[in-house]
Amino acid sequence: MNAVSDEDKIEAAHLAKEAARAYPTEAEKQYPLPPSVIDVSRYTDERLFEREMEQIFYKTWFPACPSIDLKNPRDYVVFDQLRQSVIISRLDDGSVSAWHNVCQHRGTRLVMESGNCKPGRFSCPWHGFQYDLTGKVRLVPLKDSFDPKRLENLRAPAVRVKEWGGFVWICFSDEGPDLKTYLGTIGEELDFFGLDKFETKYRFRLELDANWKMVVDAFNETWHVPWTHTKTLSKLVLWRDARLRITTPHSWMTIPLEGFTDKLGDVDHRLKHICHYLAFPNTIFSCFPTHLQTWNIWPVSVDKTIFTAWGVVGPKPEGLTDEQWTKQNDRDWKHFCAISAEDAEVLNSWKSVSHSLGTRQYMFNTAESRLTAFHAEVARRIRL
Ligand code: FES
Ligand SMILES: [Fe+2]
Repeated sequence: MNAVSDEDKIEAAHLAKEAARAYPTEAEKQYPLPPSVIDVSRYTDERLFEREMEQIFYKTWFPACPSIDLKNPRDYVVFDQLRQSVIISRLDDGSVSAWHNVCQHRGTRLVMESGNCKPGRFSCPWHGFQYDLTGKVRLVPLKDSFDPKRLENLRAPAVRVKEWGGFVWICFSDEGPDLKTYLGTIGEELDFFGLDKFETKYRFRLELDANWKMVVDAFNETWHVPWTHTKTLSKLVLWRDARLRITTPHSWMTIPLEGFTDKLGDVDHRLKHICHYLAFPNTIFSCFPTHLQTWNIWPVSVDKTIFTAWGVVGPKPEGLTDEQWTKQNDRDWKHFCAISAEDAEVLNSWKSVSHSLGTRQYMFNTAESRLTAFHAEVARRIRL
């Protein structure tokens, strides 16, 4: 039998106190949507997965890299997700350009990895077509041997790009709203934090054996906290007091912190809660007043997903030394990684039962209203 430590006893007491609170709490009364069910095939059907790629991921905005990755003129990042490869480059005038990393001659990958392009020209490793930092073809060897019409204004197709909030965002479609219009309330909420003054200091990547929507689901409700994150998170957040908001296609919630939120009284919600935003379909911002974690969920196949996360740190608060600030940030990032690893363990176990004959439908309760709204949005976009 395992020994029970004092820490275990404190956690158990906290859990018991939270779970014993009468249902519903004031926060639980405001859950926006009724319970719903979803067919398991929504997570396992390969044809639906293809429609999600086409109708959702190739039509919406997401951050491709932190701005800090393009610090100097001619720095470039190669973004490789969603079966696409995109070059994002910092031009000499400070603006950014994004374009498909594929040669217009015979489709070779132009650039293998991120770096700085001092000469301002990328050369195809196959027959030497040269591209400038904006993706325009500037030199074609044996030019006269081509049909001249095919070479007129030739370029690697541009990708819509916008730098905002300390990130470079891209969208594979030229149709639809600009980034800030697309983000709507989520963008206005994030404006409060002054993210342009924040800097990405930490990052990590996980490969998960789960459908991408299963991963999104995992991060948009709080009531798995006491069971999945017993030691890491459950005594820090008041998981039964989360307030949920649906701002289609996005959603968000505010989560009070034990022993902190109540003490601050009547101040802006962003100063006293964890503010947790989902920018549909795959970007999450988990914000504290001084720092945040941003993560993205990238579908690879119907049962494989990549999770990438950035730890973003604000200006050093008054009264802290550099050393104290770094120590605090290191600790927060380590904590976030530990929590994500706990989610990953549960998520990775899903694949082995994803075709189980034992359940053909999953249920969402009212605490999972954000998930109900998310799946309704997915269904609407792929015209289910
Ligand atoms: S494939 Fe790039 S120059 Fe031929
Ligand atoms: Fe979690």
